Amino acid sequence: MHGDDAGFQALIEKITRDRGFRCSSYKDKCLRRRIGVRMRAKHTVTAGEYSATLDTDPKEYDRLIRSLTVNVTKFFRNWDTYSVIESTVVPALWERREPETRIWSAGCSSGEEPYSVGILMHKHAAERRESARLDTIRIIGTDIDRDCLGEAERAFYADTALGDTPPALRERYFPRIAGLHGMLPEVRRLASFECNDLLAHKPPMEDIHLILCRNVIIYFEREAQDALFFDFHRALAPGGFLVLGKVETLLGEARSLFSPVNARERIFRKI
Ligand SMILES: C[S@@+](CC[C@H](N)C(=O)[O-])C[C@H]1O[C@@H](n2cnc3c(N)ncnc32)[C@H](O)[C@@H]1O
Repeated sequence: MHGDDAGFQALIEKITRDRGFRCSSYKDKCLRRRIGVRMRAKHTVTAGEYSATLDTDPKEYDRLIRSLTVNVTKFFRNWDTYSVIESTVVPALWERREPETRIWSAGCSSGEEPYSVGILMHKHAAERRESARLDTIRIIGTDIDRDCLGEAERAFYADTALGDTPPALRERYFPRIAGLHGMLPEVRRLASFECNDLLAHKPPMEDIHLILCRNVIIYFEREAQDALFFDFHRALAPGGFLVLGKVETLLGEARSLFSPVNARERIFRKI
């Protein structure tokens, strides 16, 4: 699509209009690369031609949106981060003894991230012999992609999803059903799922104790990232935790809103 800026602009305006997908907040380079891949797959050369294909081929439209949202995920992705969550964040949440502990996985894809945290909460409760307190844990996973959320609700996973999961947790939390790994019902019930566009700036809850937003903002333009950090700050309870992805970090003014808990693992706390 090099040298076809007007065509590209018209195409992303069309996608925003037709599908409510706010292209202008995503990094231009990512959009161009991913749209380019789909254009080649459909043997189209110009943005205009591809735009006409989208009008006659709704399946291709769905495929394009799917590729723009990038749904790659895994249970316990970057185990080092989860190890710090387990040793530092989970005990701190437990000690708060809130009537309800609220956890938000923002951009949760097919549920692996919220369930990973659910497993750590469940494990901690079992070790403390306080399983009754699991009734006070509320995890909400949100994503813009409804198909992914459907998969999260079904909670059956292939081997590839468990590549980073320690064997003991695999054994304990993933009963095998029809060749797939089911999520243990006691963890499954901790989480619920909702469609939510982060760029609409309407968090699903208030007074949240832990927000995970990992490998999502990396696709957003700087302005959208800044706005999101302020959303997260507002949505967190005092002292609440924020976990970003390994290649993401707080920028600009947002740095004064949080203190680092573990900078390497991108774990912060609301000041
Ligand atoms: C790469 S996955 C990350 C999944 C998980 N957080 C992890 O780190 O493994 C990015 C997810 O962000 C979602 N996403 C992209 N844009 C979004 C938006 N505007 N609002 C909410 N979710 C969005 C995608 O649909 C996708 O499921």
